[in-house]
Amino acid sequence: MTLGVFVLITCMVYLTSCVRMTRVFVYGTLKRGQPNYFNMFNNTNGTAEFLGSGLTTEKYPLVIAGKYNIPFLLNIPGQGHRVQGEIYKVDDKMLKFLDDFESVPTMYQRAVVKLEVTEWVGKTEGEEVLSPGNTTEAFVYSTTTYQPEWPSLPSYESYDAYGDHGLEYVVREGRD
Ligand SMILES: *[C@@H]1O[C@H](CO)[C@@H](O)[C@H](O)[C@H]1NC(C)=O
Ligand SMILES: *[C@@H]1O[C@H](CO)[C@@H](O)[C@H](O)[C@H]1NC(C)=O
Ligand SMILES: *[C@@H]1O[C@H](CO)[C@@H](O)[C@H](O)[C@H]1NC(C)=O
Repeated sequence: MTLGVFVLITCMVYLTSCVRMTRVFVYGTLKRGQPNYFNMFNNTNGTAEFLGSGLTTEKYPLVIAGKYNIPFLLNIPGQGHRVQGEIYKVDDKMLKFLDDFESVPTMYQRAVVKLEVTEWVGKTEGEEVLSPGNTTEAFVYSTTTYQPEWPSLPSYESYDAYGDHGLEYVVREGRD
């Protein structure tokens, strides 16, 4: 499989400005209503457009770990739950910002994940229109560099920083 499959070329009318766009699946603090969502919508760091929602076709452990209660999708297919999240189209600037934000490659690695679409609103020029039930692919920030005990932590289907688990995410500004 090549990177080209995931990278879409969106060209404006008259081909004067061609911007390379990439799809990213977010399952944690970058989702709507979650503590880092604002990062996606400040054009200083690139642009993101909501395309729809989906869930991973495979199960993965989505755990909350470390002293700052950070959500991690452990790259252990077949364990945990099929994980829900949101699919965004991002430009290169935003992709680079997200790579930094997610501390790639030490904390997370950017991998490709297969998804089942549950909602699709993306209708931009040049973008494929998908329906619930369709499968597609996107980049995801998951990790293989986890602590040995993390796979045994409780795993979640849908992350919510403010959920019943009580493990509220500690924002960067609030860390030691
Ligand atoms: C934009 O990126 C810079 C550098 O990574 C960061 O300090 C800043 O908080 C970001 N701003 C937003 C709104 O995401
Ligand atoms: C975007 O972020 C910068 C600093 O990161 C801030 O100065 C600016 O006010 C923000 N803009 C919006 C629209 O939130
Ligand atoms: C999406 O699902 C519809 C309905 O099942 C199907 O007709 C269509 O071919 C699928 N499209 C893609 C791109 O998989």
